[in-house]
Amino acid sequence: MSERGEEREWAAPNGGPLPPEIDTTKPSIARVYDWFLGGKDNFAVDRHVGEATVKLAPDAPLVPRQNRLFLQRAVRYMAAEAGIRQFLDIGSGLPTQGNVHQVAQEVDPAARVVYVDNDPMVLAHGRALLATNSSTTVIQADIREPRSILENEQVQQFVDFSEPVGLLMLAILHHLADEEDPGGLATALRAPLVSGSFVAISHFCNPGEAYPESAKVAEEAEAVFNENLGTGRWRTPEEITAYFGDFELVEPGLAPLAGWRAEPDPDVSRSPLYRTCVAGVGRKP
Ligand SMILES: C[S@@+](CC[C@H](N)C(=O)[O-])C[C@H]1O[C@@H](n2cnc3c(N)ncnc32)[C@H](O)[C@@H]1O
Repeated sequence: MSERGEEREWAAPNGGPLPPEIDTTKPSIARVYDWFLGGKDNFAVDRHVGEATVKLAPDAPLVPRQNRLFLQRAVRYMAAEAGIRQFLDIGSGLPTQGNVHQVAQEVDPAARVVYVDNDPMVLAHGRALLATNSSTTVIQADIREPRSILENEQVQQFVDFSEPVGLLMLAILHHLADEEDPGGLATALRAPLVSGSFVAISHFCNPGEAYPESAKVAEEAEAVFNENLGTGRWRTPEEITAYFGDFELVEPGLAPLAGWRAEPDPDVSRSPLYRTCVAGVGRKP
């Protein structure tokens, strides 16, 4: 193993050595999430976080899986039913199956997508995947600096802010601490969007005393994430709803991931994890 960890595990998208900015000695949420989804772009430190979570809650992988399915339903809804043709996906994650551009461009091949993530691994793999797609791009930027996203040259080039936009913040706001002001950041990112735009959000949730078993898992998972990864907030449904601001939640409102415009699946809804991640789509009136 090299000083920076497991260079030999690196499967470069375009060949070549592990880029110096990728630190394999510390877990990254993009790579932990990739592990949960059965991907190969992760290292031992990342797998350790995933395995600790699975030890606590054996059906934990259903949350990322359901999150991806929510993403696909939400993007399809925005593209096919609401006519959205440009998407800004913040905290996009490593490329996997059913990515935003694939879903949106199935509806309209000219739909434009900008992926934004602060993890260098996402940029390395994203660029390789998207190299041939002129309607899709990926930039490295931090949600904690919304102006660096909104004023980014490529964002300006790909997104016409005089037309409705689909803004995605899926499974990212719960990686921001309260002191980082996720509400203020969500407000700043929604601000330039015109009427008819949408925001989709998914977020770890602690449903409180109405669902004591789920609340207990949420508290325990929060402890495991913070101990191993240093982030993870399971917020209340009220806190999460506030991130939509004046955008009006479309039916069915804020719901468990698998309960948002999906066929009921008893295997999923009977899990205590069902209510520990929720999602919604809001429309700017
Ligand atoms: C759990 S993954 C979710 C990926 C994708 N949005 C999805 O829902 O399938 C969270 C992503 O947010 C990114 N992320 C975390 N903090 C971020 C920040 N401050 N700025 C930009 N991206 C961030 C991570 O690198 C990771 O790729």
